[in-house]
Amino acid sequence: MRTQVVIVGGGPSGLLLSLLLDKHGIDSVILERKTKDHVLSRIRAGVLERGLVGLLREVGCASRLEREGYVHDGTILSFEDERIGITFTDHVDETVVVYGQTEVTRDLYEAREAAGGKIEFNVEDVMLDDVRTDSPFVTYCVAEEGRRIDCDFIAGCDGFHGVSRKSIPAEVRQEFEKVYPFGWLGILSKTPPVEDKLIYASSKRGFALCSMRNENLSRYYIQCDLDDRIEDWSDDAFWDELRRRIPKDAADKLVTGPSIEKSIAPLRSFVCEPMQWGKLFLCGDAAHIVPPTGAKGLNTAASDVHYLYNALVQFYLDGDRTGIDGYSEKALGRVWKAERFSWWMTSLLHRFPHQGPFDLKMQQAEISFLKSNREAQSVLAQNYVGLPY
Ligand code: FAD
Ligand code: DHB
Repeated sequence: MRTQVVIVGGGPSGLLLSLLLDKHGIDSVILERKTKDHVLSRIRAGVLERGLVGLLREVGCASRLEREGYVHDGTILSFEDERIGITFTDHVDETVVVYGQTEVTRDLYEAREAAGGKIEFNVEDVMLDDVRTDSPFVTYCVAEEGRRIDCDFIAGCDGFHGVSRKSIPAEVRQEFEKVYPFGWLGILSKTPPVEDKLIYASSKRGFALCSMRNENLSRYYIQCDLDDRIEDWSDDAFWDELRRRIPKDAADKLVTGPSIEKSIAPLRSFVCEPMQWGKLFLCGDAAHIVPPTGAKGLNTAASDVHYLYNALVQFYLDGDRTGIDGYSEKALGRVWKAERFSWWMTSLLHRFPHQGPFDLKMQQAEISFLKSNREAQSVLAQNYVGLPY
């Protein structure tokens, strides 16, 4: 088989890229290791920046989001019972939309299927070959049958544990990593959100986040120990701990109920440089990970897709290689800023196991500055709604 672009990974990055390319007549095949149901069962991000919403609109995937998503023009940071309300629109002419990654992915699959786009599920042993030549190809197995696709380019959209990044030789690849000494325990429950804005709560007992999906579906997270297991956290224990970490007026009105999903995610900052090797281009979690505190994971994946798709269109339609050759540098410029913001939000709001008195004072001084300084709030707002592409 032959196609113009092989896309490894059928998560949000791969799907979005395939639809954008298709709009310009560029042919692609997606190879996904899991089933569609498995991909759709993963509960992840919830806050979409304008850039991602724009891309979804461009591929005709925004109508449900426009009907069912919630526009947020601000957020709340809390420190014990004290709140800092940040209204984005006081600082920038931008808002964000609360709409789950699961729904984004469902909409993208629907569009890809409607367009008759090729997706192979349950692929195994994906290998990228001759990546530095003009005739790269990808081999893989489906139901133990070996297959091969020849192509012009390969987009590595296969997440943090995929094969694409590892196909860049170790002597070329530089990896920057910070692993945080805690995780997030998240639950989804069929209960009304505690407030109509997200609350990012810092407390002596650790961080908590109150988020939502719709008027009767809430998403909550609490900072937990890395060795905590889901079985150790009953729903009651989760709700009790959440109440202790959020402002009292919110805790008093929190509606609790059985969890319908519960998971623990470790927190990590990670960047791979370069994001391109020969005809291979990395997008999204394949190239970088952020701790989720700034809601930047999915949004940064979308900005990579934006740069790569424009570069490929420029190449195929105008014969211009500028975008292709400059992809890594361009994408990394924005990636590092999202990394900085996510690291900063994480450092500001969490309790660290070996935080000494000096470290605590630094955190308190930073919070106090943020409370009283409009420019500091503006920096937060600009980053939260998303830096321009
Ligand atoms: P992925 O969504 O990881 O998709 C990659 C796809 O590639 C997967 O479908 C995978 O099955 C497939 N794949 C992997 N290896 C292969 C292979 N060898 N061959 C073929 N296919 C392969 N972001 C936020 O903003 N907020 C959050 O709250 C948040 N929570 C998260 C919780 C968890 C547990 C994780 C892992 C991530 C979270 N993120 C969050 C980050 C966000 O979900 C990701 O940034 C986003 O999913 C990136 O999309 P992607 O398409 O690049 O990668
Ligand atoms: C959600 C997750 C985040 O990491 C975040 O910063 C905001 C919202 C969510 O899942 O709703």
